[in-house]
Amino acid sequence: MEKKRGDWQKARNTPAGKETNAPLGVFVLEYDASNEDVEKTRNWKPIIKIAVSGAAGMISNHLLFKIASGEVFGPDQPVALRLLGSERSQVALEGVAMELEDCLFPLLREVDIGIDARKVFEDADWALLIGAKPRGPGMERGDLLEMNGGIFAEQGKALNDVAKKTCKVMVVGNPCNTNALICMANAPNLDKRNFHALTRLDENRAKCQLALKAGVFYETVSNVTIWGNHSTTQVPDFVNAKIGGERCTDVIDDQAWLENDFTPAIQTRGGLLIKKWGRSSAASTAVSIADAIKALVTPTKEGDWFSTAVITDGNPYGIEEGLVFSMPCRSNGDGSYEIVEGLKINDWLRERIKKSEEELAGERNCVAHLMGVSGGACPILEDTLLPGEM
Ligand code: LMR
Repeated sequence: MEKKRGDWQKARNTPAGKETNAPLGVFVLEYDASNEDVEKTRNWKPIIKIAVSGAAGMISNHLLFKIASGEVFGPDQPVALRLLGSERSQVALEGVAMELEDCLFPLLREVDIGIDARKVFEDADWALLIGAKPRGPGMERGDLLEMNGGIFAEQGKALNDVAKKTCKVMVVGNPCNTNALICMANAPNLDKRNFHALTRLDENRAKCQLALKAGVFYETVSNVTIWGNHSTTQVPDFVNAKIGGERCTDVIDDQAWLENDFTPAIQTRGGLLIKKWGRSSAASTAVSIADAIKALVTPTKEGDWFSTAVITDGNPYGIEEGLVFSMPCRSNGDGSYEIVEGLKINDWLRERIKKSEEELAGERNCVAHLMGVSGGACPILEDTLLPGEM
């Protein structure tokens, strides 16, 4: 269907959800290209479709404007944003689209909003799955897995049926590693290696604290790996990290600080932030999603790597297969990645990595029924979610 700017104007005066002319049942915004600077757009790449769930939430409110400005996918990459909300957030989503329109971003070619994943994910090149229910009072970790897992099973099916087969999926909604696993299991048409769970926020947090301790600029901190789950069992790896090209442990000659202060500070930083803010991180999460995407669409610096949680199948560290586990990765910039081999795993790291692995295997057992596997069971899991979520 041809879409014109007029569709948006017309639909704006129509009660939300009642517009029949627009493909997603709500409204469509598309710029009129007839007066455009043709020279400027001549070298642009073909447009890509980016689907975002939880699009009316706080994280998206920071992220969408970065994407639309070209900061994430590059200054020659036009984008179509496809925003998924819920019935409750439908009208707020119209507000988000209005703000995007008011920013006059040349690279933003189209905004569609909707509440049906099967429509919103159609032909998506990227799916950023941010929306998830927060944990309510009295809920166990297993309850949250069950509740959010159901959402990610449905979204996986929708991606399987309507997204491009090459669609890259970045799961942010918690518990993100296992949500990504559920999503993957329900989307067999997509390569398992196209799924990521976000641990770049943890990597950024670790880099910041190491830089502050060493008294250097952030950019001099490199080779930081987050191993495992995005929970308090995650392992921020100071053993293989570097500062100004030197071993981090040579620059910060304080093993006690690295083990007993730095490590738990990174593991629990999200929870501390929730206590202070009264809500979970939004701006820094959005920045880290942008960083995680940029890490995949630009070549990784020689000798460096980044952290992202990916399928463990065939991993070189002996981590159990069939988990979504954060590991050191590199990219040649085409959206794919490879796991970096040969990091030194000493006893201190091994013991902690094992604990995160066991936690993820337990989570997988809990949600087996959402992955089409029978026989799973969900014992009361140790509470490693962030304290502020209670
Ligand atoms: C964080 O690490 O800040 C968030 O993942 C916390 C949360 O659960 O919202």
